[in-house]
Amino acid sequence: MADTNFDSLFARLRRFPDVEAANLQAWDATDRLLLDTVREMQAAGLLQPGGRLAVVGDRYGALTLGALTLDSVGTVAPAVRVHQDLITGERALRANAGALDLDTGFEQLPLGERLLEGASLVVLQLPRSLAELEEIADAVARYAAPDVVLLAGGRVKHMSLGMNAVLARYFEDVQPQLARQKSRLLLARRPKPVADAPPFPVTEVNEELGLTVCARGAVFAGTGLDIGTRFLLDFLPRMPHAAHAVDLGCGTGILAAMYARANPGARVTATDRSAAAVDSALATARANGLEDRIDVLQDDAMSSLPAGSADMILLNPPFHLEAAVHSGAGIKLIEAAGTVLAPGGELWTVFNSHLHYRPALERLIGPTREVGRNPKFTVTASTRRP
Ligand SMILES: C[S@@+](CC[C@H](N)C(=O)[O-])C[C@H]1O[C@@H](n2cnc3c(N)ncnc32)[C@H](O)[C@@H]1O
Repeated sequence: MADTNFDSLFARLRRFPDVEAANLQAWDATDRLLLDTVREMQAAGLLQPGGRLAVVGDRYGALTLGALTLDSVGTVAPAVRVHQDLITGERALRANAGALDLDTGFEQLPLGERLLEGASLVVLQLPRSLAELEEIADAVARYAAPDVVLLAGGRVKHMSLGMNAVLARYFEDVQPQLARQKSRLLLARRPKPVADAPPFPVTEVNEELGLTVCARGAVFAGTGLDIGTRFLLDFLPRMPHAAHAVDLGCGTGILAAMYARANPGARVTATDRSAAAVDSALATARANGLEDRIDVLQDDAMSSLPAGSADMILLNPPFHLEAAVHSGAGIKLIEAAGTVLAPGGELWTVFNSHLHYRPALERLIGPTREVGRNPKFTVTASTRRP
């Protein structure tokens, strides 16, 4: 493919099944900078011929599919091994690959040994949190080839010196590169020896809740308690006793665990699109002796749960899509709740009062009452109309 700027490739990428909107695109200047740099390093003979490539944090496939179009990537099958935390990103990569006839040549894997074993080049879209970067840096230092080059890129406005510091804990040599089009790369080499056990998930007892919370690096709020979640939990004693409750967008699974504990007859599904979240929720359930009552499920907006199969859903919705505050992600989950709730079932949700979710709740679920409000948040209960 003679696409020196990756323009024709990028133009055909979609975010689907993630939220799509005119101001949201499936690739960014960091993807381009990373791919250009890989190509330049290959041309300069800085990468081993036939070295194995791993991609981490690809959003919708730009990096994986772009790499597949580069010369000399792919001498060892599969040409690219890739890890994406979000199932929406994994599905988008497969859909984009199918549309571009590039659906062989890559393998999607969890963050770990199979992804990184023998990798001589790791291309990374920098995550937003330092904890997630730490988990990735540890995995690269632990499993990749000793001569691995880690090329990590991000938007300058989202990068911090803390990222250099995290990488410097795992690599002898960390070099920031010049910025281009508001993106910058960090190049890390010479992995340091790592501790016997990987540093994640971390475990912390939350004294306020009397709950042990487990968190992988990429999970929302780490082992902490989000203030919106805390406010929603104030209403736990008033929530109905369900046979099957869902913690939708479960993160570390605090809502699932607290609901299961307060409702001994309930079966609870903790579900999230993030692999780190469902791993964390499972670890939290186990740490609190609730694993027989809580099932975890990695899925996009409960798409695999049957319609009408839940009688209670708890939701602290996301309101960020990448860096932008966007209500689309929350609306998508409310819409899904309208499908998965049985008639008469209830959705209890907490949101920043300025987000005005109420009309969507009325429309997509049914009659909605405000059960609490503080200076920042509103808690509502919506009953699924028959
Ligand atoms: C505000 S956090 C709440 C996390 C957790 N429930 C808590 O209270 O700490 C929102 C969560 O929704 C998840 N999420 C966002 N979009 C989703 C989708 N389409 N399907 C499933 N989960 C999603 C995010 O990964 C994140 O963990």
